[in-house]
Amino acid sequence: MLSFRPQILEAVKDFGMARLVRACSLSELPEGERIVVDVEGESILVLNHEGRIYAISNICTHEDAEMVSGIVIDDTITCPVHLSRFRLDSGEVLNPPATKPLKTYKVVIREEEVFVEV
Ligand code: FES
Repeated sequence: MLSFRPQILEAVKDFGMARLVRACSLSELPEGERIVVDVEGESILVLNHEGRIYAISNICTHEDAEMVSGIVIDDTITCPVHLSRFRLDSGEVLNPPATKPLKTYKVVIREEEVFVEV
């Protein structure tokens, strides 16, 4: 079953050069789960697809639809509005009407916590 919950920024930590934002704990993001974190005006979708954690922009590059409601199949996510498909790992757009890739973010797991590099 697909479910998601919105979440606001919980913590920002500096680890060397990277600025990491805590999204959630690993236990809060089981396979198939997704959350949205808002970081300084950027809406970031963090999801667990087949055991791998991805972080991408939650806003479609076509007409600002929220990707949190998108369909995830075969390492891609499909926009719920006009059905452009994007790769989860690179954000590459695979079919129109969108022409620009989704922004992707590096995910870091530390001590059972999920961080997104911004
Ligand atoms: S809003 Fe996503 S493809 Fe149009």
